[in-house]
Amino acid sequence: MAETTPNVQERIDRLIRDINRHNYQYYMLDNPTISDYDFDQLLQELIDLEAAHPELRRPDSPTQRVGGEVTKRFETVEHLHPMQSLGNTYSQGDLIEFDRRVRELLAVTPEYVCELKYDGVAISLIYENGTLVRAVTRGDGTRGDVVTANVRTIRTIPLQLQGDFPPLLEVRGEIIMPFSSFEQLNAEREEIGEPPFANPRNAASGSLKLQDSAEVAKRGLDFKLYFALGEQLPCSNHFDRLLKLHEWGFRKPDVMEKVGDLNGIYDFLNTWDEKRKALPYPIDGVVIKVNDFDQQRQVGATAKSPRWAIAYKFKAERVSTKLLSVDFQVGRTGIVTPVANLSPVSLAGTVVKRATLNNGDFMAEMDIREGDSLFVEKGGEIIPKIVGVDLKKRNPDAQRVPFVTHCPVCGAELQRAEGEAGVFCPNADHCAPQIKGRLEHFIARKAMNIDSLGEGKIDMLYANGLVKNIADLYSLTYEQLFGLEKVIEDDNGKTKTISFREKTVQNILSGIEASKQVPFERVLFALGIRFVGEVTAKKLARHFETMDAVANAPAEELTAVEDVGERVAESIIAYFNDTENLGILMRLRDAGLQFELNKEENLPVSQTLAGKSIVVSGVFSIPRDTVKELVEKHGGKNVSSISKNTAFVLAGEKMGPEKRKKAESLGIPIVSEEEFRTMIGE
Ligand code: IVH
Repeated sequence: MAETTPNVQERIDRLIRDINRHNYQYYMLDNPTISDYDFDQLLQELIDLEAAHPELRRPDSPTQRVGGEVTKRFETVEHLHPMQSLGNTYSQGDLIEFDRRVRELLAVTPEYVCELKYDGVAISLIYENGTLVRAVTRGDGTRGDVVTANVRTIRTIPLQLQGDFPPLLEVRGEIIMPFSSFEQLNAEREEIGEPPFANPRNAASGSLKLQDSAEVAKRGLDFKLYFALGEQLPCSNHFDRLLKLHEWGFRKPDVMEKVGDLNGIYDFLNTWDEKRKALPYPIDGVVIKVNDFDQQRQVGATAKSPRWAIAYKFKAERVSTKLLSVDFQVGRTGIVTPVANLSPVSLAGTVVKRATLNNGDFMAEMDIREGDSLFVEKGGEIIPKIVGVDLKKRNPDAQRVPFVTHCPVCGAELQRAEGEAGVFCPNADHCAPQIKGRLEHFIARKAMNIDSLGEGKIDMLYANGLVKNIADLYSLTYEQLFGLEKVIEDDNGKTKTISFREKTVQNILSGIEASKQVPFERVLFALGIRFVGEVTAKKLARHFETMDAVANAPAEELTAVEDVGERVAESIIAYFNDTENLGILMRLRDAGLQFELNKEENLPVSQTLAGKSIVVSGVFSIPRDTVKELVEKHGGKNVSSISKNTAFVLAGEKMGPEKRKKAESLGIPIVSEEEFRTMIGE
């Protein structure tokens, strides 16, 4: 090892240099110069080398992008320079005052730079000799949390600067979550019964504080640069400095404009108040900065914020409208959500008739009374939000709107989940919206995929007493379904009756029949166990292989599965302890659903490689993952680095020279693709 280390170090350095360059071409310049496949090869080689030589891993290694480091508690540190905030205004009149004061202090008319005000989380990035060594949240402005491992997963943050960077550099900007990532994240959370994030800012902030950086890597965060500090930095103004940072490896700001006066500022903010609707990420205003650094110093700062810059925040569009009534909705997991029925009002392009009141605590905090007029806002282009009561319009005798104590659908007494703001109906097995919600989840595409049934048909079956739980679907008969009727209303308010004819009934029955072949992992997901989403179900299925094994697993065995924490384990145990659920499972098993992992797909086809640890390296005639699957199908185990326990190295073309050397030095056989195929009898 001692002998090979210098060479390995050289190779690692080279790989890091090359991969960082390719990443820069791809993420910063949108101009890749290498195929994805070749790129993956380089990255894999680096991952393998670092696994074999953990002592040689560098903090700027691009492998840090995929995360993996787990931080239990974030250390707090003092900022090198305090992180000030900006003076905020919502009025164009205040901008006149800002400009007047700046001109008074300077005795000349300065040039301003207008930027977007990104709606995310402020971050300070410290680069020592060009390497990102620390990322710190704003915290209280003086001290913040060290979230370096999480921040390294963000692709638009360079881990290593390039060019003539200074020895010490602090870069500041905003970590944001683009709308597309936000929507995807919330959809995933709702699927597993987690509360969705209210807006992309909260989602970005929550993501930065995750303990597992591999999770952060999946959150699709992005970085927007707006400021840099350091000693003897080049450039005499802000605009040029941000361009300089681009030379060192940061993305150029998407929007940055020099203007000469207030009219220029107004033009910019009016343009972006409109254009922000088409931006892929949230902004909540614009920032105006004096461009020249000497002038910035002359204008100075207060204890809290610089005088040379100001944030103009866009007004969220707001209207006041009358509260007509409050509905209490029961969801699939039993959570009861109050929803305000409002006198229809037009707001930012749509007519708003309903808006969520979230939960009882929210209603109490807002002190919502019967007949109140409520302020409704649509900020950040998301769903309308109730932000307050228009007290001027309140009737002094108005009574508080009470929160229901019993389920508005089934009448069961509501319970409060420990540590949560919401209440829920505990009558999961006999409460209509919960039953229908579970049925809808069960037939969904990613679950049992019974697309001949849908929400409307589930409603009909339920209303006619034909299905009360998911197992009932498998007892449906042609006679029960044929001629089933439903009265529906079209858009013009006309009613008509539809009834199931032969073709519909055949479709429904064959869809249900086909679902019996749906693999075990999706059956497990389809059951609708709280917190068990698609991915968790797959991991549980692979780990335990049978429904019985999952059902009988104690908490410590469940939490041994990746992604399964205590709360998830508790929920699984509760599900399998419920006698009603056990009855349903028995019927599903009798109906012929898959309660075991598919043997053909998942079990070895031979034991030729049983007990052998194999390292797959290089380029093959088929994708490398397929080669690895072949290894497993024949009973072998894939490992990433060569050790004395490696049975052989399966070498494709262009296998890394270091790997070859290591295999040779340890006397590990090197097997070609052809030899391998003969070995497994293909
Ligand atoms: S400049 C000393 N520019 O808004 C000046 N801030 O209170 C440093 N923000 O916490 C801030 N976009 O996180 C600046 N283009 C931008 C910005 C921006 C968003 C955030 C920043 C700060 C807050 C202002």
